[in-house]
Amino acid sequence: MIKIAPSILSADFSNLIVDIKKVEDAGCDMLHIDVMDGHFVPNITLGPPVIKSLKGKTTMPFDVHLMIENPDKYIKDFVEAGADIITVHSEASIHLHRTIQYIKSFNVKAGVSLNPSTSLNTIEYVLDDLDMVLIMTVNPGFGGQDFIPAMVKKIEDLRNMIERRNLNIDIQVDGGIKPSNIHLVTDVGANVIVAGSAIFNSDNIAQTVVDLRNNASK
Ligand code: DX5
Ligand code: ZN
Repeated sequence: MIKIAPSILSADFSNLIVDIKKVEDAGCDMLHIDVMDGHFVPNITLGPPVIKSLKGKTTMPFDVHLMIENPDKYIKDFVEAGADIITVHSEASIHLHRTIQYIKSFNVKAGVSLNPSTSLNTIEYVLDDLDMVLIMTVNPGFGGQDFIPAMVKKIEDLRNMIERRNLNIDIQVDGGIKPSNIHLVTDVGANVIVAGSAIFNSDNIAQTVVDLRNNASK
């Protein structure tokens, strides 16, 4: 069973809680929260105060995607704001093993994200410690970009790597996923699907979530 994680980046920020209720009512599994610092990626979004203000207003877990430099410096703030899963970019963490242990020391789940050009080798020696790997299917920074087809093989290679080692790790994909192409990533083993513009720009959010589930490989 796949999990759907709507990215609030494409929600109406002046009506955030209304939009969040819509995706909760549509049966989405977790809320994907994109944190951008204007350094690691060329865009700035939101930080711990906004996340904190949403806590308790939805039952969906908070899946926090940190696209920031120096993630260690801010992890505690995101935990205190209510993050349930914290994902850092391998490219942004010089001491990735230490960062992962630090996240887990707060009893929240730890994920590592890879930009499209980053090799799976980066996580080979930390894979056993992870709850989730996020394969970026666009270059991070903006919603509404086109899915990069070369990422299909990367997802498949990761699925094989995880199975060879008999691990139980979620494979999340993020960027350009919509009902018409979700099968490309679920066919090869992705099981946590982020979708921003496809969900929040839809006239019928509930139907789009149903379409995503129906079009995903079972
Ligand atoms: C991109 C973000 C994504 C983005 C996805 O940097 O990490 O979560 O919001 O948006 P869509 O689904 O529109 O590509
Ligand atoms: Zn994201």
